[in-house]
Amino acid sequence: MKVLFIGDIVGNTGRKALKHMLPLLKDKYNPHIIIANGENAAGGKGITAAIAREFYNMGIHGLTMGNHTWDNKEIFDFIDDDQRMVRPANFPDGTPGRGWMKVEANGKELIVINMQGRTFLPPLDCPFKKADEIVDQVKKKQSCILFDFHAETTSEKIAMGWHLDGRVSAVVGTHTHVQTNDDTILPEGTAFITDVGMVGSKDGVLGVDREAVLYKFKTQLPVRFTVDEGKWQFHAVYMEIDETTGRATRIEKVRQVEDQWVMN
Ligand SMILES: [Fe+2]
Ligand SMILES: [Fe+2]
Repeated sequence: MKVLFIGDIVGNTGRKALKHMLPLLKDKYNPHIIIANGENAAGGKGITAAIAREFYNMGIHGLTMGNHTWDNKEIFDFIDDDQRMVRPANFPDGTPGRGWMKVEANGKELIVINMQGRTFLPPLDCPFKKADEIVDQVKKKQSCILFDFHAETTSEKIAMGWHLDGRVSAVVGTHTHVQTNDDTILPEGTAFITDVGMVGSKDGVLGVDREAVLYKFKTQLPVRFTVDEGKWQFHAVYMEIDETTGRATRIEKVRQVEDQWVMN
């Protein structure tokens, strides 16, 4: 099974990059399943029904979220009904939405689990224990599992990779918006990268207008952050999974910067 996972899509700049890159990547990799992180899709804060629909119409089969899940209040109107979206599974019991889902596309089936880290983020349920619970439950029926670990620290993400090695097909990190250069297949067959990186502005700070971020760092005063409108950068990972074993056989980083054409 060929899977493309696209990192945090930030605002209109990210959506513009996605529109440009997705057809090129479909041509190059011919993925069966495409998943993206959408927690910053609407002005950097959450997602709307219209934007989610736009992504699905472009050929994205499933969306993961993160700590910005609830930033756009519109989500409460549709997350319970949207079968193609997951929010972190370790949010408190009773939270709207779901933490994992089965994505079916092009004759393939992939379980997608979303989880959030706890280091420098709110004190949610233990992501390691919650991962065990869900993986034990789904592993009986499904071999291919993609785990999006939305976390701040490299150590927590790397630890999760080891925790799930051999039990899921891939652990991909999101949230920090900067692609890490440690893509690998762990010894028991789990594809891993600490952070996939974002899809958004190239010259801002993590997708946000840099002047506002600099002002906040220098003054410590409250500031309204806006999505940077400049040139874009695009980050994703492409993976291949052996469906009989659920083991990954390939992981490859994708990085493109507007007007700098380096893709093979
Ligand atoms: Fe995040
Ligand atoms: Fe993000």
